[in-house]
Amino acid sequence: MSFLAALGSVVAVGPLPVNLGTAGNYAILAETGVSTVPPSAITGSVGVSPIAATGLTGFSLTLDPTGQFSTSGQVVGELFAASYAAPTPTILIAAIHDMVAAYNDATGRAPPNFSNLANGAIGGLVLAPGLYNWTSGVSIGSNVTIAGGILDTWIFQVSGTLTIAGAKKMVLSGGALASNIVWVVAGAVTAGAGSHVEGVILGKTSITLQTGATANSRLLAQTFVALDTATVTN
Ligand SMILES: *[C@@H]1O[C@H](CO)[C@@H](O)[C@H](O)[C@H]1NC(C)=O
Ligand SMILES: *[C@@H]1O[C@H](CO)[C@@H](O)[C@H](O)[C@H]1NC(C)=O
Ligand SMILES: *[C@@H]1O[C@H](CO)[C@@H](O)[C@H](O)[C@H]1NC(C)=O
Repeated sequence: MSFLAALGSVVAVGPLPVNLGTAGNYAILAETGVSTVPPSAITGSVGVSPIAATGLTGFSLTLDPTGQFSTSGQVVGELFAASYAAPTPTILIAAIHDMVAAYNDATGRAPPNFSNLANGAIGGLVLAPGLYNWTSGVSIGSNVTIAGGILDTWIFQVSGTLTIAGAKKMVLSGGALASNIVWVVAGAVTAGAGSHVEGVILGKTSITLQTGATANSRLLAQTFVALDTATVTN
């Protein structure tokens, strides 16, 4: 599906937005755990469910007196786990449900505007708005540019793994917003040391940010998220 929406003289290009539902309330949401090698720096909430707070590792958590969330010096925001006091478990179940629904929505979009572009080796390319599908993995071996206006949208469907090489970056141009970019990835996502990610990641499995990687992003994983002195800002 896609649309053209006129707003004044600005025309949006690209697929209809993916509704994250309440999963959009989290910078990081995962089912089996979130780990950090400190110090990471996360701006936004972190949630894990169905795993308990034992699934939040490396954060030096301080449980709030309400028992409903904890805090960490590495998080500007709150951390939530399925083992915390009500209403947290119920809220997390809904958020995970919404995350899976968003994944299924994004991965079900068709037909793509670009199929198997560059056989998945997209470093150096400039990516216009649209729906992209790779039946393989995607690797970013040099900077890649996502170019479009502030209303434009991108969905990148990756059937294999998504790998960003160390120190390589996703670069936005023309006013493109990370919140309008969705990477829906069936395999593991790995951002190499010092690399930079732009856009929401809906991962069927894990998302790993290696040493010093940064992400202007939401990391929404159906297994785990692993951070190593990484920065996540949504
Ligand atoms: C890519 O397209 C194929 C064929 O339509 C589809 O089966 C697959 O789910 C798509 N990949 C993703 C990650 O959405
Ligand atoms: C993408 O594909 C859809 C469906 O075929 C089409 O309506 C739309 O115009 C295409 N968008 C771009 C930017 O080519
Ligand atoms: C990659 O992008 C970063 C950030 O915009 C820039 O500093 C760097 O020089 C770029 N690298 C190359 C090889 O263009």
